[in-house]
Amino acid sequence: MVSGLSSHRCDATRVLGYPDGPENRMFRLNNTIFKLAFYSVCALGVFVWYVSNLMVYTISQPIIKSTRITKLNKTVHENIKFILIWTDPAIDPIVKLGNGQQTFVERECPVKSCFVTSDRHFFKDITEFEVIIFHGKEIVRSLPAMPEIRSTHQKYIFASMESSDYYPICDVRFKGFFNWTWTYKLNSDEYNGYIIVRNKKGIIIGPKQDMDWLRIEEMDPVTKEVEIKLSRKTKIAAWFVSNCRAPSGRDYFFIEVQRELNKHGLSVDVYGECGNKICPRDDESKCFKLIKRDYYFYFAFENSLSEDYVTEKLLTAIRNYAIPVVYGAANYTRFMPNGTYLNGRDLGAKELARQMIEIYEDKKKYKRFFKWHNHYSYHDVYESPESDSICKLCAIINNKTVFDKATVYEDFNSWWNPKGRC
Ligand SMILES: *[C@@H]1O[C@H](CO)[C@@H](O)[C@H](O)[C@H]1NC(C)=O
Ligand SMILES: *[C@@H]1O[C@H](CO)[C@@H](O)[C@H](O)[C@H]1NC(C)=O
Ligand SMILES: *[C@@H]1O[C@H](CO)[C@@H](O)[C@H](O)[C@H]1NC(C)=O
Ligand SMILES: *[C@@H]1O[C@H](CO)[C@@H](O)[C@H](O)[C@H]1NC(C)=O
Ligand SMILES: *[C@@H]1O[C@H](CO)[C@@H](O)[C@H](O)[C@H]1NC(C)=O
Repeated sequence: MVSGLSSHRCDATRVLGYPDGPENRMFRLNNTIFKLAFYSVCALGVFVWYVSNLMVYTISQPIIKSTRITKLNKTVHENIKFILIWTDPAIDPIVKLGNGQQTFVERECPVKSCFVTSDRHFFKDITEFEVIIFHGKEIVRSLPAMPEIRSTHQKYIFASMESSDYYPICDVRFKGFFNWTWTYKLNSDEYNGYIIVRNKKGIIIGPKQDMDWLRIEEMDPVTKEVEIKLSRKTKIAAWFVSNCRAPSGRDYFFIEVQRELNKHGLSVDVYGECGNKICPRDDESKCFKLIKRDYYFYFAFENSLSEDYVTEKLLTAIRNYAIPVVYGAANYTRFMPNGTYLNGRDLGAKELARQMIEIYEDKKKYKRFFKWHNHYSYHDVYESPESDSICKLCAIINNKTVFDKATVYEDFNSWWNPKGRC
């Protein structure tokens, strides 16, 4: 902050652009008065800036500077909740929790009173932590050493943005173990997914289990603005994919769809390692521009089949004005209004291809799929502190009413795993 000050130079002559060596005395006097006034305003400005910063600092919650806090001085930070990361702290999304309070401050979270560490010896006694977080991905196959003592006041949180199909928890010792869940599943205690939906007023309305969407017929007609965006498209569909053997079976399904389209002289462009079109990973935005300009449909095929598992792929389609062709085990009506996407698994390859062609050949039909733009908008979870799952985790941990209520997932395995997976 101090270094920032030096760049705000109060140089009146420079700013006002006075000519060199004025002869007129009157002018000189004027010049001096002007300079004086100018410097005073500058000084006042700096003072106000300084005081306001001081106020912000003192009014907002205290930020812990030290990284070591002992049981003795923990009471000094009574309002701070201490979070221990039990699994690897460097793996996404856990890494987003950072260290200390920093991430909550940087994200401008409404509630910042959380302190994160992966140091198990941070306190002498592990029960001093209000929360311990376990990342699903790392407790899947072998059961790592678990905390030896546990206080009933602590919440053990299960965290995962990866699908349960990829990372099922089969060990029955997790029955009655977790108090809270923080995952992409919509009935988690706190949502840790990829997408949020807002209505036109900007209020977050989804995704959730029971959405009350407008029906397509009730929606306003597509605006000129959106129509223009759709007007230059010529190619039927694109698929961006790097994992060619995903457990969802999307690859086989894709081949069938491609075969059906080929029969009509159409073909899906496949970008990435599994296709013949290239899109460098470090410059995805360039390729996304292609979707926006050229493609009618975008394949948002998930790598695995789990309830509510809908990733940023859907967002990619939406943001680039392509109809999402979805393939996953989610009930997609929780994410999008019926009639705004095509569901590959519901329709089957043949019917999907038939509908794609029908829509491709009829601009009027195509446009209907974009009517929702008049009523809803889609966002990345991290786009605002209000929806940021990191902020929301800190908020729920600090919500005394919710936190103090003893809760436990007695049958965690059935809550998490797809049927018959273990
Ligand atoms: C807590 O106490 C320890 C040991 O006395 C000290 O090193 C540390 O800086 C203190 N932490 C805070 C945040 O006051
Ligand atoms: C999907 O969710 C909607 C809304 O909750 C429900 O009406 C519908 O029956 C669900 N579909 C399936 C296949 O479960
Ligand atoms: C969704 O829309 C399709 C036609 O676009 C219709 O056939 C289907 O019954 C609708 N499903 C629901 C759950 O409303
Ligand atoms: C705590 O959570 C409850 C239930 O979700 C909510 O009604 C309440 O407003 C929350 N309190 C605060 C302070 O956010
Ligand atoms: C967390 O779960 C444990 C184990 O079932 C339970 O004893 C404890 O009361 C729960 N604590 C909270 C704060 O929910």
